[in-house]
Amino acid sequence: MTRDTDHNTGAAGETDATTLDPWGSSTIADYRKLFEEFGIEEFDELLADVENPHYLMRRGVIFGHRDYRAVLDAMAAGKPTAALSGFMPTGDPHIGHKLVFDEIIWHQQQGADAYALIADLEAHAARGLSWEEIDEHARDYLLSLLALGFDPEAGELYRQSENRGLQDLAFELGIKANFSELENIYGFDGETDVSHMQSVVTQMADILYPQLDEPKPTVIPVGPDQDPHVRLARDLAARMRFFGVTKAFASFEASGDELELLGAAHGALSADDGDTVRCEDAAAWLREHGNPDDDGFGSVVAKLDSAGKEPLEPRVRFVDRNATKEAFEALIEAVEGEKRVYDEHIDSFDLTREEAEALAREVELDNGGYGFYAPSSIYHRFMTGLTGGKMSSSIPASHISLLDDPQDGYDKVKSATTGGRSTAEEQRRLGGEADKCPVYELYAYLLAADDDAFAKKVYDECVGGERLCGGCKEQAAELMKEFLEDHQEKRAEVEHLLKDADIELVSSRR
Ligand code: TRP
Ligand code: SF4
Repeated sequence: MTRDTDHNTGAAGETDATTLDPWGSSTIADYRKLFEEFGIEEFDELLADVENPHYLMRRGVIFGHRDYRAVLDAMAAGKPTAALSGFMPTGDPHIGHKLVFDEIIWHQQQGADAYALIADLEAHAARGLSWEEIDEHARDYLLSLLALGFDPEAGELYRQSENRGLQDLAFELGIKANFSELENIYGFDGETDVSHMQSVVTQMADILYPQLDEPKPTVIPVGPDQDPHVRLARDLAARMRFFGVTKAFASFEASGDELELLGAAHGALSADDGDTVRCEDAAAWLREHGNPDDDGFGSVVAKLDSAGKEPLEPRVRFVDRNATKEAFEALIEAVEGEKRVYDEHIDSFDLTREEAEALAREVELDNGGYGFYAPSSIYHRFMTGLTGGKMSSSIPASHISLLDDPQDGYDKVKSATTGGRSTAEEQRRLGGEADKCPVYELYAYLLAADDDAFAKKVYDECVGGERLCGGCKEQAAELMKEFLEDHQEKRAEVEHLLKDADIELVSSRR
């Protein structure tokens, strides 16, 4: 497998391609590129619509998403939702993982079904860990998750290797993905081992697993390096669907741009009188009133011309994608009101799009399909390493493990690099660079917890030159020590929860 490591060197001015590699480096040179090149959406745009947002959302640590509105809307309407994330047990859980633990727990507290899984198949296949090592780390991840507030009674914990339903789903999803696709997405090649590929379909199954008992909007909180997985899972979810639901105006299919033009023509012509609007009339209307430079203009006029006298009438269309014959027949039966049945689609003239989507899902479920919603995701920023550069589990001084001795945590913060100036005098004059400071990140991502006023005070005092790095680090180090003491105490207290939790702590593969 080839790995593009160019993006490790994020030197200014360099034209480095941002690549998202789930098994490669996890630094992001430029978050803006994720919006422009990968189509991740900005979280800020929906922050105002989040009820009771988590501080990681308020502070921009969670910066991006895909289709998260679907989850927010369902949560606001009191409908079922789920949140799921997974952890490769390759080392100690650290403060980067805590972000994800917190995100899962927050969703659980907002009423979502919460899932956390141990990606042991992936750790075994893609990282070569033994089952003994995996068991040891898995236990540590789970204890920290419980210590931070995950409710194991309300939520579900599992490990990939012991979950037969998950593995069955992975097998089914694998039917819809082929090698060329994995090659394109992940850079797999002829050397990539088959179990590594299998761990990909297993992750696809993880992402859709919460929908096995009932389809529901599901959010996957992860780092942006996992976005390739999210995109593939969204595609696979759609490919599994029996029916697509689209809008149409006549027997032909139309793109989004074309639909807009058709809507305009239909609106104008149907307002005139009660007569049937015909495709040729719409073509004539568009020639007269439309703008030939509009996207879709030429193609839609041509389609209207060839449809001639066919009536132009808005409708929702059910397209047969993957349905069995029985399911298609059942859908024909189920569509109420005026409808027209074709070989591979059904047009309904009375249903709204929402009604049609609900009906398509219902018929799919009744006929043995899954009815998946495309999964949503939210993305958090990676923390900068305490030594500058990236936070890496292979460089102990760069990160703080949740298992670190509190005094070591204290010491690591004390020796962290900062965004400070070279002299105290300069710092008072120019202020510190909080935006480039790993210590400030510790406050914002962890130490200030829910206290926005405190995080803001640190920031303002730093950039205002009132705060000097020595004292600032001392305070952060002290808070880190307290956090670790407290967290480790809680880990000890939740041992019994882990013992009672419905998850195997010892792999049956050992
Ligand atoms: N691949 C993820 C990692 O590298 C772990 C993982 C497995 C995961 N299955 C998942 C993450 C499902 C989110 C959702 O850490
Ligand atoms: Fe960082 Fe604190 Fe120094 Fe500001 S004062 S640069 S936040 S260590």
